[in-house]
Formats: sequence, structure tokens, C-alpha cells
Amino acid sequence: MEKKRRIKITGTGFYVPDQILTNADLEKMVDTTDEWIVSRSGIRERHIASAEQATSDLCIEAVKKTLRNSHLEVKDIDLIIVATSTPDTLFPSTACRVQQGLQADHVPAFDISAGCTGFLYGLIISESLILSGCVKRILLVGSELLTKITNWKDRSTCVLFGDAAGAVVLEESKDDSGMLSSYWKADGNLGDLLIQPAGGSRMPASVQTVAESLHTLKMKGNEVFKHAVKRMGEAAEEALKKVGLKKEDVDVFIAHQANIRIIDAVGERLSIPKEKVYVNIDRYGNVSVASIPIALHELRQHKKLKPGTIILMDAFGAGFTWAAVVYRW
Ligand code: UT7
Repeated sequence: MEKKRRIKITGTGFYVPDQILTNADLEKMVDTTDEWIVSRSGIRERHIASAEQATSDLCIEAVKKTLRNSHLEVKDIDLIIVATSTPDTLFPSTACRVQQGLQADHVPAFDISAGCTGFLYGLIISESLILSGCVKRILLVGSELLTKITNWKDRSTCVLFGDAAGAVVLEESKDDSGMLSSYWKADGNLGDLLIQPAGGSRMPASVQTVAESLHTLKMKGNEVFKHAVKRMGEAAEEALKKVGLKKEDVDVFIAHQANIRIIDAVGERLSIPKEKVYVNIDRYGNVSVASIPIALHELRQHKKLKPGTIILMDAFGAGFTWAAVVYRW
């Protein structure tokens, strides 16, 4: 029988800015408590970019570490994809800024906008591009600088987010390891529940939009929460079904780190025991597209990924978008 072709992650790395904002710091900024934030979200601290840093700066730091970790050089990369909802500018793309910063001459580069699901969308797109023969090696970066579009007066959102970038190198697998299956969906009907309303063509920037803080992130948190649990559960089940695996076959569950209660609820729905569920939201907050590549790198560093380990990645985000990927390490 012909061997199934698949793509594989051959490098990982991430970057978080040095400055840490703790829940105690937030208690001084808005009417909140460490107790509320920890019990409702699981977050204890988050990293915050400096005023000078833009999303591409975070990407470049993450990419440099990733290339170093994988003993590769910029010249070894054929395509740069950046998943982000907080681009440096609406155009040119953040990926082009990364290409510029890396001096990755003539390599194509583009962004994906799929909210917190962007990294998994990126894996799915990369699979097609590599297996079709279009490119050999892709640098996929998930980077978000949400604190630049945070309304620091809105306690329901400002306690949640952090800044970070995570990257992976992707190429065709030469063995049995790699991406086994995927499932991706979107529902634009619910887009207004998680949105940055102003600054695009629907509501261009004006003095009024700035005065009304419409360039900051708005979220109906409890609505988003319900959809996230349902959709992430569905995506995981569909992706496992496609490859004929059962929930018990999952060794490591990496859910997008938006809220510990979402992660726990999806884990319970899938009957995945807690020791298989990776959690780092306490240290980074919700870093959107960066959360899954950071988890992958940390798991590797802690030697938790062995040949044959079955990883289930699962995400939900603005759009709404949701996706799951089943992967054999
Ligand atoms: O990344 C992808 C998408 N994002 C998500 O998946 C996030 C999904 N949503 C969530 O994680 C949760 O909905 C939140 C953490 C945002 C909020 O938790 P919740 O349990 O859904 O709280 P809630 O919005 O229903 O608010 C409960 C109460 C409200 O007070 P009343 O009306 O009950 O008196 C809020 O005003 O908590 C209040 N509240 C706060 N209190 C202290 C909201 N934010 C805070 C705060 N500190 N920071």
C-alpha cells in the first residue's frame, strides 16, 4: 500500500516580552481581584510588549530562536506565514515585515486572519502547500500583541490577554510521524461577539471612534465561552474520527489557552484525563495564536513528546473560527 504523505513539525520556538503584568498589578488598575481572575480564567500573570514593539518584532524573536533550535538558517525557508489578528499595519502584511527583518530575500510571505484559530488554520494550509509540491519548508508563526488593542478600563477583557509569538518549521515527513488529520470551520454570523470594531473599512478611524475606544477589543465573554466549549468539542471529535482514533488514544491535549474553565470543560466532554491536558495559561494569559506553538515547544523542552505520542490540538477564536488537528510526534 502506498505510504500516506504528511507534514511534520521539525522546529519549534517562542518569544515572550520581558515585562510581566501580574494580577496584583491589575488590581491597582481596575476594579478586580486576583481571586476573581484566577478562579474565572486561570490566569496569574501575562507578558506585555514594550511601547516600541510591534507584532513582527515578536515574530522575528520567535523565528530566530526556532531556527537556532532546528539548526536551520533563513536561507533554508521557502515561505513565511504569520497568523495574527494584531498585524503591525492593515497592510503591508506582518509576514512581509518578518521577511524584511530576517532578510529572507524573495521568499513569499502572507498573513492569515483567523482569530485564535489562526495557528491551526496555518497548519492546514501548510499541509496543502507542502504536499502539493508548491514549497518544501514553511515557517509558520503565530503572533499576537493584544495588549495594544486592549481597553485598559474594561475589566472584563483587560485581565485576559498577553503578548507572545510562537513559531514552527514545517516540511514533509519522511517517516510515520506528522499531521494525521484536521477539521476546520467558521461561522461569520457570530462575528460581532468578539471584534475590534473600528479601524477597518466598515468603520474607518475617526476622532469619534478613538474617543469611544472602538479600536479596542470588544468581547461578550460568556457568549464566546459557550460557543468555544461546544465547537472545540465538535472539532476534536471530528478530527479524531477522520483518522479512526478514539479519545483514549490521545496522549497530549493542547487546547487554545483562552480560559482554564474552557480547557477543563472541553477536556471533560472528551473524557481526556487532566494529566494529559497541557496548561500554561497561568503564566501567559490568552496569547491567541501563540498559545499552541508555545505549548508544543514547552512540551518538547520538558521531553513530554516521544516518538508516537498522539497530540490533539484544538482552538476557537474570532470569526468565529474553530479547528482541530491530530498529530503523531
Ligand atoms: O480566545 C478566544 C476567545 N475568547 C474566549 O474564549 C474567552 C471566553 N470567555 C471567558 O473566558 C469568560 O467569559 C470571561 C473570563 C471573559 C468572563 O468570565 P464569566 O464567568 O463568563 O463572567 P461574566 O462575564 O459572566 O461576568 C460575571 C461577573 C459580572 O458581574 P455581575 O454582572 O455578575 O455583577 C462581571 O461584571 O463578573 C464581573 N466581572 C469581573 N469582576 C471582577 C467581569 N470581569 C471582572 C473582573 N474582575 N476582571
